[in-house]
Amino acid sequence: MAFSTLNVLAVICIFACGTVRSFEWDTVPDPVVYACAGKTATFPWSFRARPEVMLTDIHWVFEGSFVSEILASLTHNIFLPNPTFSPRLSHVTPAGLIMRDVTMADEGKYTVEVNVVEEGSYVTHRHSVYMQVGDKLMTRDGTLKAKQDPLWDDTKDQWVIRLTCGFFTFSGQPPIYVEWTTPAGDTTQSKDYSNGHFHLTLPPPVEGGNYTCSIPEQFLPDVCVSDGRHGNKAVAASVLVDETKVRLTLLEVGHRVFEEENRVIKEGYRVIKEENIVLKEEMNDTQTQMASLTHYVDAQNEHLTHYVDSKDENMTQYVDAHSEEVMTNVRRFEDKMAESVEMLESDLSLLSFSFNETSEKSRVQFYARYLPKSCYSKGEALTFDDTLTNHGEHFNASTGFFTVPYNGTYAFLATIGSWDRSGEYSAEVYLIVDETRVAFGFAGYPQGGNWRMTSFNAVVRLTTNQKISLKASPRKKSCFWSFVVSFTGFLLTFDP
Ligand SMILES: *[C@@H]1O[C@H](CO)[C@@H](O)[C@H](O)[C@H]1NC(C)=O
Ligand SMILES: *[C@@H]1O[C@H](CO)[C@@H](O)[C@H](O)[C@H]1NC(C)=O
Ligand SMILES: *[C@@H]1O[C@H](CO)[C@@H](O)[C@H](O)[C@H]1NC(C)=O
Ligand SMILES: *[C@@H]1O[C@H](CO)[C@@H](O)[C@H](O)[C@H]1NC(C)=O
Ligand SMILES: *[C@@H]1O[C@H](CO)[C@@H](O)[C@H](O)[C@H]1NC(C)=O
Ligand SMILES: *[C@@H]1O[C@H](CO)[C@@H](O)[C@H](O)[C@H]1NC(C)=O
Repeated sequence: MAFSTLNVLAVICIFACGTVRSFEWDTVPDPVVYACAGKTATFPWSFRARPEVMLTDIHWVFEGSFVSEILASLTHNIFLPNPTFSPRLSHVTPAGLIMRDVTMADEGKYTVEVNVVEEGSYVTHRHSVYMQVGDKLMTRDGTLKAKQDPLWDDTKDQWVIRLTCGFFTFSGQPPIYVEWTTPAGDTTQSKDYSNGHFHLTLPPPVEGGNYTCSIPEQFLPDVCVSDGRHGNKAVAASVLVDETKVRLTLLEVGHRVFEEENRVIKEGYRVIKEENIVLKEEMNDTQTQMASLTHYVDAQNEHLTHYVDSKDENMTQYVDAHSEEVMTNVRRFEDKMAESVEMLESDLSLLSFSFNETSEKSRVQFYARYLPKSCYSKGEALTFDDTLTNHGEHFNASTGFFTVPYNGTYAFLATIGSWDRSGEYSAEVYLIVDETRVAFGFAGYPQGGNWRMTSFNAVVRLTTNQKISLKASPRKKSCFWSFVVSFTGFLLTFDP
């Protein structure tokens, strides 16, 4: 029976295609090998190895409920079964095993150990399976039973009726399936197996009537039933599905579920109410905290505002106070400036005055001409008719005296001429400073109507109020050609 359930492993490219691992299981039995008492079990182990991998030996080991022993060995290509098993065991190339006349005692774990030398070291490749042995129908009590249950179908979101057929003893996936015959006579393969049962779900509307679960004839050997008669009660079971009852059941279940849900909802509501209270309290706390926070912020703000205001006020006060100070200083400065300006102005006016004065003073010039008479007695000062120039009026033409206005150096020029036909009187004058003779001019005795002229000059340093004049000779009377006589004087430089 096992041949049909062999799990043939494809050679899988595990790391990269083209890379063949040095040792690979080619085929291994299913995790559970099913066998019936008196029948044959096959363990179709086979492997592939690279040529450089050297096979040393193979061992097959059995571990039952009470015993653990080596079943057989293969060394140097010689198969050596354990004598206890030897009549029932044979070797299938390369690592497979066949066991005949299986008994209940043969149930247990079977392991193959392939020992090879790979790259110079000994390596053991192991594989284990479990063999389950049945001696009659492989259900718990040797009979088949069918039943029905309501079930919530998550995928369809509705209540359905689930038919169950079992209770099988297959410890893994069974090598069989069952068939359901509906009331209408249709058959359905049922491969949905779990916890020892095959199932069939009937979605609403459920068709009422007998549903029969049976093991197809071809699987009878696999469930260890030798009686192949179709319809054998041992390999078929019916369950009557009452349409009305089913509906009522589904309703009832629905109601129960609804009640349960209602209870859950009520419980949820109670929890939510409690949570709501807690939340409200927390909310209240938060609000209180918020309020205190707001209060704090307000207080801080007020404090800050107050502080800033006071600072501001202080600042204003400071600025005010200092501005007064500054203004005072500015006023003081302005006053000082005004004073300075006043002083400067006064200085300037003084300077101006001094300049005016100086320029006025420097204008000391006179030029006098024409004698009012021809003859002058001894030592008499020459007087003049006309003063063409007399800046400062320091020269008195009617006295013939120049009064020195300022200390300084002066220049004097004089021209005289004689014109006396008798030749009795000459023209003879001295330039006199106070009583001192400074220069002398003489125009001698002309005869026969001739006239004579002379000029002389002097540069003298004088002091204020000294008097300068041209005076006639002290020895005798002088007569002049009065038209040509002139007298000039002017200031050259001031004394420092
Ligand atoms: C359903 O099966 C039961 C028991 O096997 C049987 O008594 C009954 O008559 C069957 N009903 C129908 C409608 O086949
Ligand atoms: C919130 O708290 C205040 C004082 O802490 C209290 O007076 C008030 O009743 C509370 N309100 C609620 C809804 O808990
Ligand atoms: C403002 O000035 C007064 C006196 O000058 C001082 O006492 C006060 O501390 C000042 N305030 C601030 C905020 O500086
Ligand atoms: C100086 O002379 C000028 C022009 O003659 C006159 O305007 C000015 O007032 C004089 N200054 C003084 C200080 O006498
Ligand atoms: C000149 O001197 C005479 C005599 O001392 C005097 O009377 C007269 O006023 C003087 N003239 C001038 C312009 O000073
Ligand atoms: C002019 O000179 C005399 C004699 O040197 C001196 O005594 C007098 O002070 C001077 N006057 C002026 C205004 O400098």
